[in-house]
This record gives sequence, C-alpha cells and structure tokens, in this order.
Amino acid sequence: MTGARGGASRITTPGARQGFRIDNVVTHGTFSLDGGTWEVDNNVYVVGDDSDCLIVDAAHDADAILAAVGDRAVGGIVLTHAHDDHINVAEELARRTGAPRLLHPEDTVLWQMVYPGAPEGWLADGQTIEVAGVPWHVLLTPGHSPGGVCLYSPDLDAVLSGDTLFSGGPGATGRSFSSFDQIVHSIRTRLLPLPADTIVLTGGAEAASSDGWAAG
Ligand SMILES: [Fe+2]
Repeated sequence: MTGARGGASRITTPGARQGFRIDNVVTHGTFSLDGGTWEVDNNVYVVGDDSDCLIVDAAHDADAILAAVGDRAVGGIVLTHAHDDHINVAEELARRTGAPRLLHPEDTVLWQMVYPGAPEGWLADGQTIEVAGVPWHVLLTPGHSPGGVCLYSPDLDAVLSGDTLFSGGPGATGRSFSSFDQIVHSIRTRLLPLPADTIVLTGGAEAASSDGWAAG
C-alpha cells in the first residue's frame, strides 16, 4: 500500500528567506533490495517560492507530492539516490510536470533496477542548482549508495541529506552497494564541516517499523 501521511508541512530553517519555503511531504510505501521488501516512510521535499520549485526525491505518491507543488513550475526532480523507495514515482512526476529527473551517475546500477536507460540529467559533486534565486550545492556523499548526494543551501542553513544521515546517525549500509567506511568518510568530510546551525532534513521519516526505517 502506498500513500501520504497527511498533507505537506512547512519547514522553517535558521536562514529562512521571505517567500522561499520548504514543504515536507511524508509518503508511505515499500523499499526492496537484495530479495527483501520493507515498509518505509519517506520524506519528500518541495523547495521554492510561489512560482518555481524543485522536487527532492520521488517516493510512493505522486498525487501527494504534486499537491504540495500546486501550480508552480518544477525545474527538476532531484533524486538523492536511486533506492527504489526514493525514485518509484520519478517517471510519473516527470511526465506530469515536464521536469527532468536528476541523479548522480554512480547510482545507475540501482536506477536500472527500476527504470531502463538513464534519467534526463546527471548530478555532479560541486554542481549548483538554483531555484527561485536560492542556490543548492550538490555534495557527493557515497556510502548508503555509490552515488548518494546531499543538497546544501548556505542561504537557508539547510541540508537535505537523503539517506546519508538518519536521525541520530549514519544511514543504513547493510545491503548491496553500500559501504559503512565510505558513509562515515562522507559524513566526516562533507557534512560535519557544515556550519553548526545547519538544519538537517533527512530522506527517511519515522516509519511503520524501526526495521523498515533503517532499511530505506
Ligand atoms: Fe536509501
């Protein structure tokens, strides 16, 4: 079963800007890898102003995500990584918005478990994606997956961490294409140096079970 848990909630960060907002949609579904399937809740973020936005991750429920988008133009569907729970409505969102799906190429092996071919665009470490005048920096943070990325906004004092950070620690590395040593290195070198007041917005939400939460 898939669906959304309530409507979108508005997140205020230390660097909040007039007119710019981060909406969080929590969606429910499953994550499958290595022959197992787990119930998970995911955080999808829609960042932008009244006119333009980006969708960050494409989990489980396109209608709920598009309700948070409203009538805004979508500049891109940024995928923090290609575990199936983060991309399973990426194609539907791309079709309904006309926006390109953007992924780091190191996650192609995971992408192709769900979709043939390649997404419309690639992410690269150090790349900046601007929406509504606010730049977001792509930080390559492998470990949870080979091409996992975080999106950091120095203007908003916020980082969207995908599954690289869960609440309270590193993301899960127990399954294929994950590396504990790599995720610790990524967190130490890319996330811990961020300013101390940076708010971390994770890709995994409180889940139906702790096992599922750790799995996503
Ligand atoms: Fe994941």
